[in-house]
Amino acid sequence: MTKLPLRTQRLLLRDFEAEDWHGVHEYDAHPEVVHFMAWGPNTETNSREFVARNIAASQVTPRVCFELAVVEQDSSRLVGGVGLTVTPAHRKGFLGYCFRRDVWRRGYATEAAREMLRFGFEDLDLHRITTTCDVDNHASARVLEKIGLQQEGTLRHDALLRDGRWRDHFVYGILVDEWCQST
Ligand SMILES: CC(C)(COP(=O)(O)OP(=O)(O)OC[C@H]1O[C@@H](n2cnc3c(N)ncnc32)[C@H](O)[C@@H]1OP(=O)(O)O)[C@@H](O)C(=O)NCCC(=O)NCCS
Repeated sequence: MTKLPLRTQRLLLRDFEAEDWHGVHEYDAHPEVVHFMAWGPNTETNSREFVARNIAASQVTPRVCFELAVVEQDSSRLVGGVGLTVTPAHRKGFLGYCFRRDVWRRGYATEAAREMLRFGFEDLDLHRITTTCDVDNHASARVLEKIGLQQEGTLRHDALLRDGRWRDHFVYGILVDEWCQST
């Protein structure tokens, strides 16, 4: 049973709405934010398409893509995105997140990602949640370790960046039993 939106102490995690593309564009066009990404900096069209794609995905049954807008409760400002993409046959989900540059280091990614683990394990009955992160993306690695994921290995040349560089990624994962023990 999926119960959206989700709330944490400071954040609301909700489905995207058409007008959100403005807020998304403020971070997905920022060179520092997309530094480790295989996409971006995004054009306005890219941002509109991202939001439209996620609205469409939110209406698919059974739903497998839970890409959510992260909104600061105090200001109602969209500050980022967090997502869980599910492979139902294997009861596993792939976690992702991205935040505006001016809200980094406030603990928002940790707070939102921790809630997505709860959502994945409790509400979606997942067995495993996994993700990958660039070997030099120390902030993201720190977030994953703080919420209990273990580094499981390295994928060599897992991503080709827009400047032609191949990037190695760490694989991180957590199983439901490990999550239960940590809560
Ligand atoms: C990665 C990202 C989501 C982190 O967001 P955030 O809200 O700043 O994260 P938090 O504040 O919850 O935690 C960040 C942690 O990393 C640490 N950190 C930040 N920059 C760091 C760096 N350069 N080196 C080592 N640790 C770093 C912080 O100190 C903090 O750990 P602490 O609580 O132990 O002090 C954000 O930097 C971002 O949006 N980056 C661009 C998109 C991206 O890389 N997404 C992940 C793809 S795998």
